[in-house]
Amino acid sequence: MAKKQQVMPVPPAWGIRGSFQSLVALLIATLVVAAIYLRQSNERLFQYWTTQKDPAGLSTSTCKLFTGKWVYDNESYPLYKEKECAFMSDQLACEKFGRMDLNYQFWRWQPHHCDLPRFNATALLEKLRNKRLVYVGDSLNRNQWISMVCLVDSVIAPAFRSMHNNGSINIFKATEYNATIEFYWSPLMVESNSDDPVNHRVQDRIVRVQAIEKHARHWTNADFLIFNTYLWWRRRQMKVLWGSFENPESGIYKAVKLPRVYEMALQTWAQWLEVHVNRNKTKLFFMSMSPTHQKAAKWGGIGGKNCYSETELVTEEGYVGDGASPRMMRVVDKVLDELKTRGLNVQMINITQLSDYRKEAHPSIYRKHWETITEEQLANPKNYSDCIHWCLPGVPDVWNELLYAYILQL
Ligand SMILES: *[C@@H]1O[C@H](CO)[C@@H](O)[C@H](O)[C@H]1NC(C)=O
Ligand SMILES: *[C@@H]1O[C@H](CO)[C@@H](O)[C@H](O)[C@H]1NC(C)=O
Ligand SMILES: *[C@@H]1O[C@H](CO)[C@@H](O)[C@H](O)[C@H]1NC(C)=O
Ligand SMILES: *[C@@H]1O[C@H](CO)[C@@H](O)[C@H](O)[C@H]1NC(C)=O
Ligand SMILES: *[C@@H]1O[C@H](CO)[C@@H](O)[C@H](O)[C@H]1NC(C)=O
Ligand SMILES: *[C@@H]1O[C@H](CO)[C@@H](O)[C@H](O)[C@H]1NC(C)=O
Ligand SMILES: *[C@@H]1O[C@H](CO)[C@@H](O)[C@H](O)[C@H]1NC(C)=O
Repeated sequence: MAKKQQVMPVPPAWGIRGSFQSLVALLIATLVVAAIYLRQSNERLFQYWTTQKDPAGLSTSTCKLFTGKWVYDNESYPLYKEKECAFMSDQLACEKFGRMDLNYQFWRWQPHHCDLPRFNATALLEKLRNKRLVYVGDSLNRNQWISMVCLVDSVIAPAFRSMHNNGSINIFKATEYNATIEFYWSPLMVESNSDDPVNHRVQDRIVRVQAIEKHARHWTNADFLIFNTYLWWRRRQMKVLWGSFENPESGIYKAVKLPRVYEMALQTWAQWLEVHVNRNKTKLFFMSMSPTHQKAAKWGGIGGKNCYSETELVTEEGYVGDGASPRMMRVVDKVLDELKTRGLNVQMINITQLSDYRKEAHPSIYRKHWETITEEQLANPKNYSDCIHWCLPGVPDVWNELLYAYILQL
C-alpha cells in the first residue's frame, strides 16, 4: 500500500498571502542591511577622506567634498532668515538693500558620491562647549564668521548670547554652552599698516612679513582656528618693512614681488604655529581663496560687465574663473605640506572651485556702501558693485557646512 505522500501542513495564516508577506519581510530586511552597510561604508569613506591632506586630489577615494554641483533646494535652504539674524551685517544683507531675485539663497552643495552632513546648530554648540572657535583673517573670513553666528543664533534665545566687539577682536558667546565664536581682523595675517579694523584703507600698503606676534597672542590658545588671507595680496608687489611701525623712519623698506612676499608671510605664520600651538588641543583650518567675479568676459558675459545683474550660476562643470590665483594657491599648499612634515596638520577647506560657480551670489549694488554713491555712479551700477563678498544667507553658509563636517568628526 503506497503511503500517501505526506504533505506539509500549511498553517492557515500562511499560503499565498503568507509567502507574499515573508517575501516582503525578506525584502525589507535586505534593504535595511544594505542601507546600514552603505551608511557605514560612506562614513568610513568620509573618515578616510578627512584624514588625508589633499582629499580632492585622491583618486582612491570616491568622496570628494570639494567637487560636486549645486542643487536647487528651496525646502531646506536658506538655513536661517536674513531678517531674523540679529547680527547680520548691512554689507551682506542683500534682501534688505533691495535685491528682488532671492534665488541665491536656495542652493545646496552636493559633493560627488557622498552627502554633507545636515547642519545642526545644537550639535555644533555641543562640540563647542567650553571652547573657542576663532576666524582669523580678512573681510571674507568675517563674512564666514557672520554666517556662522547667524547659523547658531537661530537656536539660541536672546538672553543666552552676547556680542562683544573690541578693536580687532569680535566675540560672539553662547553663554549656556560657554562657547565663543570669534573673529580677529588681520587681513594680511602678519602685521601691516592695514590692521586697524575700521580705518584700513591705506593707499601705500606696507607689511612686516616677519612679525605676527602682535596678532597671534590673541588667538594662539583657541580650540579651533580658521585662517584665510588672499585678497589683500592681490597686487604685483608689496612694500615690506624691516623695523617697526612705531619708528617708521628707522626701518628698512623694500618692494617684494608676489607670490614671493605672500610665501614669506605664510612662512612666518607657519613658524609661529609650529612653535606655539598646542597640538593636543588646537585644530587648524585654512580657507582657500574666495574667488571674485569682476570680469564677466570670463563666463561669456557681455564685455565690461561684472557680477552686477547676474541671477544664474555657472553650470559648466569644472569651470575655473580668473578671480583666484592658482600660483598663490600652490604657495599655500606648499606651506601646509611643510608644516605637515613638522607634525602640524592644517586642514585646507577648498572653497575656490565651488564658489567660482556662484557668480550670482555677490551683493553687487545691494548692500550698504561706505561712501555715498554719486549720481554718475548710480547711472553706471557696475562701477560700484561688490563682486567680492557674498550675500547672506548664501555661499559662506556652505563653507561653514564644510567646516562643520570636519568639526563633527573630531
Ligand atoms: C520651491 O520652488 C518650486 C518651484 O519654483 C515651487 O513650486 C515651490 O512652491 C517652492 N517651495 C517652497 C517651499 O518655497
Ligand atoms: C541636533 O543635534 C542635537 C544634539 O546632538 C540632537 O539632540 C537633535 O536631535 C539633532 N536634530 C536633528 C534634526 O537632527
Ligand atoms: C569656559 O570656556 C573657556 C574657553 O573658552 C574655558 O577656559 C573655561 O574653563 C570655561 N569655563 C568653564 C566653567 O568650564
Ligand atoms: C579692549 O581691549 C583692550 C586691549 O586688549 C583692553 O585693554 C580693554 O580692556 C578691552 N576693553 C573692553 C571693554 O573689553
Ligand atoms: C600632548 O599629549 C601627549 C600624549 O598624551 C603628551 O605627552 C604631551 O605632553 C602633550 N603636550 C602638551 C603640550 O600638552
Ligand atoms: C581646490 O580644488 C580644485 C578643484 O578640485 C583644484 O583644482 C585646486 O587645485 C584645489 N586647490 C587647492 C589649494 O587644493
Ligand atoms: C567709478 O566711477 C568713478 C567716477 O565716477 C571713477 O573714479 C572710478 O574709477 C570708477 N570705478 C570703477 C571700478 O570703474
